Amino acid sequence: MISAKIQKALNEQINKELYSAYLYLSMAAYFQDTGLEGFSRWMRLQADEEREHALKIFDYVFDRGGTVKLAAIEAPAARWSSPLAVFKEVFKHETFVTKSINTLVDLAVGERDHATSSFLKWFVDEQVEEEASAGTIVNRLEMAEKAPGAMLMLDRALGARGDK
Ligand code: FEO
Repeated sequence: MISAKIQKALNEQINKELYSAYLYLSMAAYFQDTGLEGFSRWMRLQADEEREHALKIFDYVFDRGGTVKLAAIEAPAARWSSPLAVFKEVFKHETFVTKSINTLVDLAVGERDHATSSFLKWFVDEQVEEEASAGTIVNRLEMAEKAPGAMLMLDRALGARGDK
């Protein structure tokens, strides 16, 4: 059984993951509007991943005899000034999520809730990947700003996400 405090924190994390899905879906819509369909596809798959993250926590809370209470999801922004601005926001948002996961781990360790600490390890590792992939795309977009045509090549590359 999880403590009320851990249950509350996990419920809050579900909300953050669902907000991430909502934010990335809004970014997918922005890219769709601007004709960058590869970026849009990448973002849509990212939104799907975030929903999976929320569901992973959802299932864990029930596995531990707790319950889930969903809260309102904040409306995300709908417009950005450029693809680079979008990915800078993704990177910033992922560092925020990383901090939130780390705080959760601290809480679990503090309560000597080893099962929750172990469960959260997957999220700690996932955040390393999430920050790295957003950071790489920020770097590529910074380079693309100086090279005409590079944006479309990048759009094609990101649009291949999920193939194979
Ligand atoms: Fe679920 Fe991108 O953190």
